[in-house]
Amino acid sequence: MKFFIDTANLDQIKEAQDLGILDGVTTNPSLMAKEGIKGVNNIKQHYVNICEIVDGDVSAEVIATDFEGMIKEGEELAALHPQIVVKIPCIKAGIKAIKYLTGKNIRTNCTLIFSAGQALLAAKAGATYVSPFIGRLDDIGTDGIGLIEQIAGMFSRYGFETEVLAASVRHTMHILQCIEAGADVATCPLNAITGLLKHPLTDSGLETFLADYNKLNS
Ligand code: G3P
Repeated sequence: MKFFIDTANLDQIKEAQDLGILDGVTTNPSLMAKEGIKGVNNIKQHYVNICEIVDGDVSAEVIATDFEGMIKEGEELAALHPQIVVKIPCIKAGIKAIKYLTGKNIRTNCTLIFSAGQALLAAKAGATYVSPFIGRLDDIGTDGIGLIEQIAGMFSRYGFETEVLAASVRHTMHILQCIEAGADVATCPLNAITGLLKHPLTDSGLETFLADYNKLNS
């Protein structure tokens, strides 16, 4: 399973890249706003900065909600850097835009997916990724991980090449559940990724190893 980091924070992106396990980055307008990035040119430059840090795909989201606006923005974003994947919301104009951009060999990530039916339409339009938001489904008492399993099963049964990118991942347990559910990618906050490292037996075992070494060597 691939790991993307879900942030526009350059320090966190660098930290995840330095770990050597990062496969890409996802951003959205809220994450860009959180970093205080405003104005079209600054936003575009920020995407380029992210691409220069990581080796993998970087999702950059369109703001337009009409077909013409989405394809114009999508083409501009894709032209910024070969690693850019254009992120498009799962609405009617978005599905049309994904079909159009796919025809131009521009890769897309269909975002704000909350049902298998939405994922099916995005995949049929040729989306490179679909992004089901598991945390937000859990928030309203529905089964986010169950949706990942349902979409992954559907794509595998019908041979869709679209990858299931689990988004709105909130914690380490979500990542482990995504593996079981068959997600191709999980896009996560940095602390959910580093949480995978934590085990008390690793800490106590290391402490004992070092204490035993020091008994004889200090
Ligand atoms: O990947 C989508 C993500 O940024 C949304 O996360 O925690 O706002 O639901 P959250």
